[in-house]
Amino acid sequence: MRRTYIAGNWKMHKTPHQAGADFRQFAARMSAVALQKDVPKALNLDLAIAAPAVHLAALGRAQGPVALLAQNVHWEKEGAFTGEISTLMLRELGVQGSLVAHSERRQMCGETDLNAGKRMGALLRCGQQAILCVGETLAEREGGKLEEVLRRQLHEAFRASGVRLAFEFLGADASRPLLSIAYEPVWAIGTGKAATPLEAEQAHAFIRAEVEHIAGSVVSSHMRILYGGSVNPGNVKSFMACPDVDGALVGGASLNPAAFEELCLACLDQC
Ligand code: PGA
Repeated sequence: MRRTYIAGNWKMHKTPHQAGADFRQFAARMSAVALQKDVPKALNLDLAIAAPAVHLAALGRAQGPVALLAQNVHWEKEGAFTGEISTLMLRELGVQGSLVAHSERRQMCGETDLNAGKRMGALLRCGQQAILCVGETLAEREGGKLEEVLRRQLHEAFRASGVRLAFEFLGADASRPLLSIAYEPVWAIGTGKAATPLEAEQAHAFIRAEVEHIAGSVVSSHMRILYGGSVNPGNVKSFMACPDVDGALVGGASLNPAAFEELCLACLDQC
């Protein structure tokens, strides 16, 4: 059984001071939950927050049940790449990985499938987590292109990653595989109009089958697929009830530590 994975995406929110206070508050509350409520279930829930790059140094020192992720990373280890950050820099700060190719970066920062794959490969080779974000626009869905878009995003990224072996995708602990995919339909992000659980499940099942073609059944059966797009404390359970939904990538509802705690507690039932 795959462990549940809930990751918050803070995008370009919070000053460093606010970020430190909110991260500590959320981590402390989730530690308390693990101790007081339901230890076996809490132990089956993996938590992370993807924070803006300038917060990572301070947050990386915080110990606790919440992993810290970057929102983007370059594929080279070092060099003349002004404005970029590398996997080596993240690792030294205690950052455990990064989002890759979030749709906002695809739409507004020129992110491509090729570069997404290179980022993913750099992370996995460094033993760090990669959450590869895929998803279709409304026009693509309405044009019947959902599967074509997901197939292209997955195949191109896996090819460009240069990673081939199951243990490189999974890492040392297959119960916490390094590679996750976030299915985030672009039309559902930040709009308050989430996909239905059925729409999410169909896309997730398709993604898992494609990854099986590309990387084999060991990778596809261990890899976690998170749904993202207007997830909130009220609807998260309906997604988690779907067999191929292993967690959520949460934007707006992760910004308030109390609301994010509520969302995570709702998931404990399904862990
Ligand atoms: P949202 O964002 O939860 O605010 O829709 C999700 C995301 O962009 O990862």
